[in-house]
Amino acid sequence: MERPAVGPAVVAVLPAAGSGLRLGAGVPKAFVELAGVPMLVRAVDGLLASGVVDHAVVVVPGDQVAAADALLPGRPVTVVAGGADRTASVAAGLSAIGPDAEVVLVHDAARPLTPGPVVARVVEAVRAGAPAVVPVLPVPDTIKQVDDAGVVMSTVDRSALRAVQTPQGFRPADLRRAYAGTPDPRTDDAGLVEAIGDPVTTVPGDPLAFKVTTAWDLRIAQLLLAGAAAGPVERI
Ligand code: C5P
Repeated sequence: MERPAVGPAVVAVLPAAGSGLRLGAGVPKAFVELAGVPMLVRAVDGLLASGVVDHAVVVVPGDQVAAADALLPGRPVTVVAGGADRTASVAAGLSAIGPDAEVVLVHDAARPLTPGPVVARVVEAVRAGAPAVVPVLPVPDTIKQVDDAGVVMSTVDRSALRAVQTPQGFRPADLRRAYAGTPDPRTDDAGLVEAIGDPVTTVPGDPLAFKVTTAWDLRIAQLLLAGAAAGPVERI
């Protein structure tokens, strides 16, 4: 693999082995098309187009490896089979990464519109010495903690809360240590790093890095792409 001028290898793991049940599309979520292009392909191409990612390891359901390969011809991509939950899928992706990687990103295939500058900010922060970096946004809604019956127990101080996106960036050895140290499934990779007591730092995220989880999110993504066809999506 030829290295671009950005420096030592940056490898991105894309967990894309989810079933997509909440989306209700009848196919694994990463294979759902957005304006004619599967989410997975948009996510991979977005990372590569950022100019700071050298190689992607795509993790898909075991019976979709050949299909994913066929969707990604001519790209610096390795496709591997995933596991039962997101944590197991990322672990499978990590085992496919060679020893020369300097930065590992983990990026949800379900965030197909993530802008390149978010990716660049994460990589830059890891290169500057942070062992683990996550892109975040402030939380605009008031957040309440409720009991099993839905009765409010408390109101959380939202000024200290952040919504966490991907790509999350790591020094490879630190992420491997985190995966070796914490077998419990987590909803994000930085959570594993937190669990072994390492610091996790933040950089600004972007609303366009939202995760496509429900049919509503899919509609929003389609509308954004339709708008982008008419002109660039405006930063607010
Ligand atoms: O389910 P959720 O939306 O949180 O999934 C986040 C990402 O993790 C998605 O890109 C999904 O494909 C991936 N995933 C995976 N393996 C699983 C479950 C989820 O790679 N077993």
